[in-house]
Formats: sequence, C-alpha cells, structure tokens
Amino acid sequence: MAQTNSQQGGRKEESRDARRSVVETVFAYHEQTKHHFHRYARTLGHLDWATQPHPFRYYEGSFQAQLVRSRSPRPLIYDRLYEKNPLSPQAVDLDSLADLFRYSLAISAWKQAGSSRWALRINPSSGNLHPTEAYAVLPPLSGASATPALYHYVSESHVLERRASFSDDVWRSFTKSLPEGSFLVGLSSIIWREAWKYGERAFRYCQHDVGHAVASLRFAAVFSGWTFHLVSSWSTEDIAQLLGLNRTDDFCEAELEEAELLAVVTPNTSSELSGPSLLPPDDITMQRIRETTWYGRPNQLSGSHVCWPVIEEVTIATKMPRAAAPIESSPLDHQRSENTQSSSGLNARQIISQRRSCLALDGVSEISRERFIRMLARTLPGPHPPWDALYWTPKIHLLLFVHRVVGLQPGVYILVRDQTKTDVLRSACDTKLVWQTPAGVPLKFPLYLLVDADCRKTARAMSCQQDIAADGFFSLGMLAEFAEPIQQHGPSFYRNLFWEAGVIGQVLYLEAEAAGARSTGIGCFFDDPVHDVLGLRGNQFQSLYHFTVGMPIEDNRLQSWPPYGERENK
Ligand SMILES: Cc1cc2nc3c(=O)[nH]c(=O)nc-3n(C[C@H](O)[C@H](O)[C@H](O)COP(=O)(O)O)c2cc1C
Repeated sequence: MAQTNSQQGGRKEESRDARRSVVETVFAYHEQTKHHFHRYARTLGHLDWATQPHPFRYYEGSFQAQLVRSRSPRPLIYDRLYEKNPLSPQAVDLDSLADLFRYSLAISAWKQAGSSRWALRINPSSGNLHPTEAYAVLPPLSGASATPALYHYVSESHVLERRASFSDDVWRSFTKSLPEGSFLVGLSSIIWREAWKYGERAFRYCQHDVGHAVASLRFAAVFSGWTFHLVSSWSTEDIAQLLGLNRTDDFCEAELEEAELLAVVTPNTSSELSGPSLLPPDDITMQRIRETTWYGRPNQLSGSHVCWPVIEEVTIATKMPRAAAPIESSPLDHQRSENTQSSSGLNARQIISQRRSCLALDGVSEISRERFIRMLARTLPGPHPPWDALYWTPKIHLLLFVHRVVGLQPGVYILVRDQTKTDVLRSACDTKLVWQTPAGVPLKFPLYLLVDADCRKTARAMSCQQDIAADGFFSLGMLAEFAEPIQQHGPSFYRNLFWEAGVIGQVLYLEAEAAGARSTGIGCFFDDPVHDVLGLRGNQFQSLYHFTVGMPIEDNRLQSWPPYGERENK
C-alpha cells in the first residue's frame, strides 16, 4: 500500500527522534566517564588479580599458518614512511603478511621484573592490556589455504589462525569493486580486557587503542607497497558477521569481541585518490558467510567478569548502522610544513620496533623549535600515511603545554589541524587568550600562542597529577570537535574521534623516537578542568586524549628479552 506524505513524514520524524536519543546516550556515557578533581570515573576500586585477563586470544583447534619472524623487509628511511608511495607493491603472500603484522601488532620485547614477565608490542595500549584483535580476509595463500579465508592474528606466536574458509563467489563479491591484489583487514575490541582495570572509562581506551592499531597497520603497509583505507560502507553488524564475532555458540564462555572496523589493503599503484570503495555486502553473501565452515573456538580470558551497563549501552549506541549516509571529507593537503624532512637517514623499521612509552621524564632536557615544529607538522593531515587511512575530515586540534622548547616561550599553545575551524575555535574560547603567531614559526603554520606562562603545574594537574605531563619538552590535550560531528555523522562517529586521536598518538610516539626522545599516551586526565583552561563551555569541543614527549629516565631494573626466538638478556 502506498504511503501518504504525512505517514512518510511521521516515520522520518520518529527516526530523527530515535537518533537524537541514541546521541544523548553517547553524550551521557562521555559525561559519566569523565575524571573530575574530586571523583574519578567508576571502577571496582581495586584490581581483582584473580580475574586478570589472559594477555592473548587464540582460536583453539584452528589451522595455524606460521609467519616468518625474522624477515627484513626492504629498507626504508623513516621520513619516507610519510610519503604516498615510497616502495613498489609486493604480492600478497605469507612473507608480505609477515611484514605487515610484524611491524604493526607483533610483540616488540619481553620485559621482566622479579618473577613477573610481560610482553610489549609494536602498538601501545592503555595499561598494556591490548584489547585490539586483528583479522585478515585473504585470497588463496600458498602454505595457508587453497581457498579464500578469514584469519585471526596471534601476536604471541606471530601466527595466522584460519577461522573460516570462503568460496570463490564470496571472495569475488567482496573484491569485485577493488583493484587486483587487494585484501581486507578487520579490527575488534575485547572490551573486558580494559574494563577489568579501568571500569566504565574502558570503552574510550579501547577506541584509542584501535586508532593506534590503525596507524601502526598503515605504516607497516608501506613496507609492502600497499595502501590501507578504512571502510565506511559496512555496518558494525556486517563486520561482526564477516569476522565471525557474532557466532555466540563458538564464544560460549569466552569474552565477546566488539567489531570495530574494516580496512581495504591495496597495492599502491591504484590511481584512486580517495581510496578504493568497498561495496556494502549483499544478503546472499552474508548468508553464505554464515553457512560456511568455521574453525576453532576462542579461549576464555578470565574466570569471571564484572558487567558495566554503561559500556554495553555506549557499545550498542555507537554501532555503525546499515546504509549509513556516506561521510564527505574535504581534502586537506595543504598545511604540511615545508620542513618535515629530518634527513637523518633513520631506519623506519628500527624506529617502529623500538617504540616504547616512557615511565619518567628527566625534567631538564630541551628540544629545538625546529624539531618541535617538525613533530607537530607530522600530525597535520594530508594525502599520505597515516592520514590517508581515514575517510573523514580531521576533527582534532592540539592544545599544547610547552615547557622546554628552545626558541619558544613556555606557555599554552594550540595547533589547529583544520584551519577552516580557526574562527569557530577562537569564538568558543575565552576572549582573554592572545592567539599570537609565535616568532620563528614557518609562514601559515597553524600554531598559536594562547597564554604566555610556565604551565608545568597546570599540565601535571590536568593529566591526573602525572609528573610525565610536566617533565617533558611538552605535553598536550587532543581537543576534538565533538557534539556537532556526532550529531551530523551519527553516534558511531564517537568511535571515529578516538581513532583519530590514536592515530595522532602513534605519530607522536614515532616522532619522539626519531628525535632520540620518548613519549607516552595519557588516557588519565581531568576532562572538564582541561576545557576550563581555554574557557570552553558545553560539549562543542572535548579533550579526548593526552600525550607527553620528553627525554626518558630509563628503569634499569627491568630485564629485556627479544620478541621471538632465543631469549637473551640484554
Ligand atoms: C590509550 C592509552 C592511554 C594511556 N594512558 C597512560 C597514562 O595515563 N599514564 C601512563 O603512564 N601511561 C599511559 N599509557 C601508556 C601505556 O601504559 C603503555 O602503552 C603500555 O604500558 C605498553 O607499553 P609500551 O607503550 O611501552 O608498549 C597509555 C597508552 C595508551 C595507548
């Protein structure tokens, strides 16, 4: 029966109301999980060591394809990681996949203190809890499978576990719109891992970690001459189906994984500037995926769990729906400073592998203004790695607490990563801020001094009184355009904001290593007091992630072991 105009209008009205209420759920979660000077976001209040999650997920009973652990990919100078196509594309095989995972999500070292031993990885993670799991949907692979298949990556052993086999029809239905030689990578979060320690705020940390993993994968793809683009056309439910995460019978007692995103990996010879477009899956394909042969069962990480209802609510509220409107992004290839080459000849693989978080900073070392500008320039978006992985116009600006940069007065600064937003930001901030272009900064570089002051005390206080925020060259808060993008692109965009923050964080981690320094992501900060520094009101802008960069004090009590193979004490 044909619908009348008023019936259609009524439906639209209802769906607008429904979306508004889901957006409110997201805003409420964000509000509820803020740290305040007088009250932290809710946790258990103690760590229940009896339920500490096992650090690795496996699919027991699945076929395992061992990836080579000691391969050396083609040499690449660190600076060239940020170029569009520095290396020619390689075929997809177990060797090139070994490189992809080895330089993104693998173990980077084992550490030991007393009788405790733990792994560190190429990608960082809040509390080293590593909620992010990775999957790949690959063509037939010699040594792994004669048919297209879905694999799960296990960092502990550098192994791909075959989780499902797909028919050629299913494979073709994914790849028909993609350039020859493409494949898919999927990421998920085991939210429980973070919730075990961080309670209600854990959902945020899982999303940061996804962002770090995205940047890590994007950079690692460069070694094989591949591009890496996030997909905006698949719903969370369809991604879960493809990755087998909704197979509740398989998971049984094992902790569920939340589907996060899908990415297309493509040889970099493709001429498409905006990245390949993966079509949404059709119903027949999804049906075939459901009915295909699945292998293995996930291990259970903890004997029992604590449920945090607000996390369940925000997880549901932020799922990408089917047939979501595409997100238009405007090209921003402009702001990059001329001065981004450090010409130091550093080895990209070495920088990626040596990345670590600092535990303490020396409180005296300085960096030059030129180096500082170069680091910031690397966080500016452009049509090159890692920014070409993202499909939206950047939403995050950097609120900087500058302590020890030679040639720059200490103070509060802002780096406007999308210059079209300068006026909006300025009008949202306290009118007392000076918005001066500092002397010695390249022309049009979007850095402004806001307050001329020693801000070490403020920076420490904002980052939950952590000394590392005051003892480095600088620390910062990642200030996101918040309410409007979530209202415009839908509640799922809440996750994207944290992913963007994680990508910025990964760039800063590598830039710190390249400068002979060290950095640390800071998830613990007092949200609203940070906004007060700028006089921001309401939720037009929100600080989502903090970071610090400086000269580390090493803890020599820790023993260090290589990631794979023979253990040797360094
Ligand atoms: C999202 C996120 C939040 C973090 N928050 C803090 C923090 O508040 N304080 C801190 O000292 N370290 C923090 N870290 C650093 C982690 O503790 C560190 O990444 C983890 O222990 C693994 O060590 P690695 O980075 O050396 O591999 C954070 C890291 C991430 C990715």
